[in-house]
Amino acid sequence: MTNAILVTGGAGFIGSNFILQWIQSEGSPVVNLDKLTYAGNCRNLEQVATDRRYRFLHGDIADRKLVRNLLRECEPRAIVHFAAESHVDRSILGPDDFIRTNVLGTFSLLEEVRAYWSNLSEPGEFRFLHISTDEVYGSLRSEDPAFCETTPYAPNSPYAASKAAADHLVRAYHHTYRLPTLATNCSNNYGPYQFPEKLIPLMILNACGGKALPVYGDGLNVRDWLFVGDHCEAIRTVLARGRVGETYNVGGWNERKNLEIVETICQVLDELRPGDPVVPHRRLITFVKDRPGHDRRYAIDASKIERELDWRPRETFASGIRKTIVWYLANTEWVNEVTSGAYRQWIAKQYSG
Ligand code: NAD
Ligand code: TYD
Repeated sequence: MTNAILVTGGAGFIGSNFILQWIQSEGSPVVNLDKLTYAGNCRNLEQVATDRRYRFLHGDIADRKLVRNLLRECEPRAIVHFAAESHVDRSILGPDDFIRTNVLGTFSLLEEVRAYWSNLSEPGEFRFLHISTDEVYGSLRSEDPAFCETTPYAPNSPYAASKAAADHLVRAYHHTYRLPTLATNCSNNYGPYQFPEKLIPLMILNACGGKALPVYGDGLNVRDWLFVGDHCEAIRTVLARGRVGETYNVGGWNERKNLEIVETICQVLDELRPGDPVVPHRRLITFVKDRPGHDRRYAIDASKIERELDWRPRETFASGIRKTIVWYLANTEWVNEVTSGAYRQWIAKQYSG
């Protein structure tokens, strides 16, 4: 084994934040395998593109021969598996890619990793860290306790079901073959480089452009929000010190109603962008048709990772949302690039009625 780690899906939102943080903090080599779907963007990694510790390979996790050769060649000591289709609304309109990548892709990857790992001279040192979501646990009522690692799985969207299937495969590969796996189930992330189909960047950009802020249903659905940099630190912590075979829930202790999130964004923008086409920005809030099967509430009990691994989020929601808004305002070139062509088609289809 070499000192390198292999990251899958590293050109996406969380993966690229993770790689940037990794190179800055850990300094050891990273190989990024990414298919570059609509959600993957090499520009996210411009800062490290010429760094000798970073290498990019364009490819699909489900391409077994490519993965086999890559593992043989770069001999990673660990794999951090982010690659996935990640947007619930897209999974409702077209679940095929979710099954293909999240379920079959994870299965293919696990098979190739198992073959690679079984030939290592120090197999106990290897780690496979699977990145998952709190959505696998289903929906909570307001009086329910937050999700913990033993909460039964009850996925409700095709996205959540595909991630749940992947989680079960990872668990089975540990139980059956003793592959040294770890898994994290995290709440909603926000921060730089998030594709503007997700709530927070969509609302920031629409508000600046004087466009409607489409809130699904009554806007009272609750999510737990975590700044992406905190999630990346949690992943590094689990990789370094997590107990093999274990799952860790990661969250911000920060439950908010969607409407509250949108109103907060509007308030910060009122202050930072008083000259925008529509001010106060909250005048743009528009209630639209609800998402089918919309989960009412997610909440994460992160006490296991805090207790066992001493991880805690650094950002408050107030500091994290301000940083995020400032980042989107400062990175108009990135925004213009990702919001061209295919993006506009998606927005037209999703919000047509
Ligand atoms: P994203 O959609 O921004 O990025 C996904 C990346 O995976 C993209 O770069 C894409 O090109 C790549 N990819 C997709 N299919 C691939 C394939 N077959 N082979 C190789 N690469 C492929 O997603 P994200 O928000 O960064 O999420 C990353 C991971 O974290 C996902 O597994 C997701 O389920 C999980 N997660 C996300 C959140 C969140 O709030 N965004 C919260 C908890 C967990
Ligand atoms: P999203 O960012 O898609 O994440 P997830 O569905 O994985 O939690 O959505 C977060 C919440 O915001 C969710 O309850 C749906 C809601 N939402 C809206 O109200 N309007 C929108 O335009 C979007 C994209 C999401």
